Amino acid sequence: MGMGTGGPAGAGGPAGAGEPAGAAGEFALHGARIIVRAGALADAAALVRDCAPGCRPIVIADANVAPLHAAPIAAALGTDLLTFPAGEASKVRARWAALTDELLARQLGRDTVVVAVGGGVCGDLAGFVAATYLRGVPVMQIPTSLVAMIDAAIGGKTGVDTPHGKNLVGAFHQPALVLIDPLALRTLPADHRRAGMAEVIKHGVIADEPYFHWIAAHGAALLSPIVADEVAQRLVLGSVAVKVHIVAGDEREGGRRRILNFGHTIGHAVEHLSNYDVLHGDAVAIGMVAEARLGELAGWTLPGLADEIRDLCATLGLPVRIPSAFDAETILSLTRGDKKARAGVAEYALPLRLGEMNVGEGRYALRMDEGLVRAAIEATR
Ligand code: GLY
Repeated sequence: MGMGTGGPAGAGGPAGAGEPAGAAGEFALHGARIIVRAGALADAAALVRDCAPGCRPIVIADANVAPLHAAPIAAALGTDLLTFPAGEASKVRARWAALTDELLARQLGRDTVVVAVGGGVCGDLAGFVAATYLRGVPVMQIPTSLVAMIDAAIGGKTGVDTPHGKNLVGAFHQPALVLIDPLALRTLPADHRRAGMAEVIKHGVIADEPYFHWIAAHGAALLSPIVADEVAQRLVLGSVAVKVHIVAGDEREGGRRRILNFGHTIGHAVEHLSNYDVLHGDAVAIGMVAEARLGELAGWTLPGLADEIRDLCATLGLPVRIPSAFDAETILSLTRGDKKARAGVAEYALPLRLGEMNVGEGRYALRMDEGLVRAAIEATR
């Protein structure tokens, strides 16, 4: 892992040696300063000011995170806190418009910096507000959910869902600062902690076999809200290192970044079909099992990997079956409208073996026969 656009910029380091680094870490990624440090939330206001001297911060959070983490940061910054109802239902164009109107009503100018405090919904939504406000103002991400810490807040993807599917309208907008405090996981509801573990497992599968085994060795203990601070930090740091390394080499998802989409083609369809009752991470767990099965059926994936992923997901309490109410034809039709589809044909990022993905002529995305996809869906019931 190199320095510069995607390397660890301070102490702490990448996963890959069996044990993710335990010390605090700092990374530089396409203009973003990414800090992972237990207790960092206490310094949030100073770090925001340091990264954007002279700017006018405005804090955005959902109604659950606002009193826990966002209000103290807004108070320390001496600025307003804008809130919205918690949940995926808020990640829509109407909410983007309402938040944008709140900034306009305050006559905030180009010196605005949006500070998003919360989970993936908040980061994606507030990030999209920042990406488009006055043609773009800086955003700082302060993720407080596991999914947001290790995935959504890193890499610059912002956007909203539409009735046609998830994340279909958005923009790349790299944050100026990503401030990750693993101690915030203490306040995360148990179902969101569990769901976040799916993306953690994904990072092991796609790029870091020793990390996958480290997760398996700790098992369900990683779900405890009182997991040792050092273990929580190692968990987060290991995943952040994987994500940073991948995005560093492919900011706009022209190639290898697509491996992060493993589990997300069928996963997004399941999430959408559930009307977002199935949490994103839970849907990704189901999607990973189904897509690994697809890879096995198509001969792209080493036999046995789907079971290995299923077993670890199940140990962590993640769902591993596609609900019987979701019929295969509807799932297939949704995959054709996924943003990763080309000309109405779904594409899949498929593992070769644990820690390694199929390159597929450099595109890291494979077109699959729909008969095989149907078979993989049925084998995941
Ligand atoms: N969440 C997948 C990516 O950032 O590319």
